Amino acid sequence: MAGRIDVENLRVTRGEFTLEVDSLHVREREIFAILGTTGSGKTVLMESIAGAFPINEGSIKLDDKDIEALPIQQRHLGILYQDYALFPHLTVWDNIAYGLKHQRPRPDNIDEQVGNMLHMFEIEHLAGRYPGVISGGESQRVALARALVMHPEILILDEPFSALDPTTKRQMYKLLRNVHESFSCTIVFVTHDMDEAIKIADNILLMKDGEIVQSGSPEEILRHPANDFVKEFIGKKRLSKVQDMATVEEVMVNHPRTVHPTRGLAQSMTMMEKNKVDSLLVVDNQDKLLGNITIYDVVKAFDDESLKVQDIMKPFEHSVTPDTLLPKAIQLMDELKAPYLPVVNDTGHLVGLLTRGSIVGYVSSEVEVML
Ligand SMILES: Nc1ncnc2c1ncn2[C@@H]1O[C@H](COP(=O)(O)OP(=O)(O)O)[C@@H](O)[C@H]1O
Ligand SMILES: [Mg+2]
Repeated sequence: MAGRIDVENLRVTRGEFTLEVDSLHVREREIFAILGTTGSGKTVLMESIAGAFPINEGSIKLDDKDIEALPIQQRHLGILYQDYALFPHLTVWDNIAYGLKHQRPRPDNIDEQVGNMLHMFEIEHLAGRYPGVISGGESQRVALARALVMHPEILILDEPFSALDPTTKRQMYKLLRNVHESFSCTIVFVTHDMDEAIKIADNILLMKDGEIVQSGSPEEILRHPANDFVKEFIGKKRLSKVQDMATVEEVMVNHPRTVHPTRGLAQSMTMMEKNKVDSLLVVDNQDKLLGNITIYDVVKAFDDESLKVQDIMKPFEHSVTPDTLLPKAIQLMDELKAPYLPVVNDTGHLVGLLTRGSIVGYVSSEVEVML
């Protein structure tokens, strides 16, 4: 097993730009994502790892061997770029066969190997076509096949999917996960897509202005973002869920069903039925919360026509404010075994209702964002 990358005290200058990486370690067979703003040095880092040009200072080792000491064919690297870079004058078949044809000794089962790749990437029908007449998604499948037919220990992907439409992009990420499983190679991928990085990477590196801002597992980065840059990169919505910073306000039902204290019971029952609820919040004309009535209270008192809402309503023992943290509110609901809690502001006015349904809706929509 191999496919490890160790970078120490790296310094690379290109024009005005300097990349400085104190230390970076990619473990064998892991999926490693690199994120960062445009111009932060991601491509320079990838090219340095690939050994595309000499570095100024430091060391880059692939499985303990200095990259500079390794001839290209011994680096066992496959690289995919954003702009496909297939050989335009060669057919898809010949593009995939290219590396094998130049291998010494030349393998005698090139046909079979290329055939397997075409099959695996579902591009058999494209074998005789030229790169100019296939789609972006197809081009990237060919590029993946061309890289993987050489069975690299490390596959480097420099934003290869960023130009693809969302559906094709999702398919490509799925394909990438299959590739990782079938070829068990180390995958280093540069991406703008935080969701994908969170979903598939074992480790994430965030870069800014030629330096590493933070590296760690998605879990570590989500729970402990190093600074505001990382927070911004992750996005407020993901963070608020993960860090339990969501407040009641983000989750609550905004217009709960209310009833005035002077209304009658038949009237209240009709309102419940119409709105398909089993209780109503009682508020005065200024929306100040007075209490609530349930369908059971109404049914019990129904025969006495003189009774009004204000005669049977019960005050709320508990409520929460809009800025209460969601986990705290959930805990309170759980302790009280309450199906809902009214949300009132500092002056006691009703602003919303926290229900179990609204919590489930919120949490599951957040999980969707995460996945
Ligand atoms: N060959 C070069 N000569 C001069 N400047 C370069 C060269 N290659 C990259 N740069 C500069 O290095 C910085 C980082 O580039 P790059 O690694 O491509 O960023 P990105 O993170 O978007 O991939 C940019 O400011 C870019 O202009
Ligand atoms: Mg780049």
